[in-house]
Amino acid sequence: MEKLAELAIEAMNHAYVPYSGYKVGAALLCADGTVYQGCNIENASYTPTVCAERTAFFKAVYDGHREFTAIAVCGGKDGVITGPFPPCGVCRQVMREFCGDDFIIYLVGAEGSIEALTLAQLLPHSFCAKEHMN
Ligand code: THU
Repeated sequence: MEKLAELAIEAMNHAYVPYSGYKVGAALLCADGTVYQGCNIENASYTPTVCAERTAFFKAVYDGHREFTAIAVCGGKDGVITGPFPPCGVCRQVMREFCGDDFIIYLVGAEGSIEALTLAQLLPHSFCAKEHMN
C-alpha cells in the first residue's frame, strides 16, 4: 500500500495541467500485480480533460488487463498535497465497469496519510453492466 502511494505521488510529476494547476497522480494495481500509473491531462477546451485515474485504467485496459485490486490517488495545487483528493464521479463509474464492491481506493493525503475506502462506499447503488444489462 505504501509502494502504491509512492507511485501515485510520483505520477503527479507527469501531469499536464496548464489550466487548473492541480496535479493528480494515480497508481492502479492489477490482479496479477502489475501497476499502471496515470496523471491528469488537461485541454484548452476543458471538457476533453482526462483524470489521472482514468489515464491509469485506460492504459491498463489497453494492455489487456481486466481485473484490478486497488488504486492509490493523490493530488494538489502545483503538486502540493494538502489533503485527500477523492476520485470524481466519472472516474468512479469507470472503476465500476471493471471492479467489484471490494475494489480499494487509497486516498493519499498530506504527510503520508492514507485512507482506504471501497468502491461500494464511494459509489453505492451504482449502475453496472453485469447486473443491469442482462
Ligand atoms: N482530476 C483528476 O485527475 N481526478 C479526479 O478524480 C478529479 C479531478 C483533475 C481534473 C483536472 O485536471 C483537475 O483535477 C482539476 O479538476
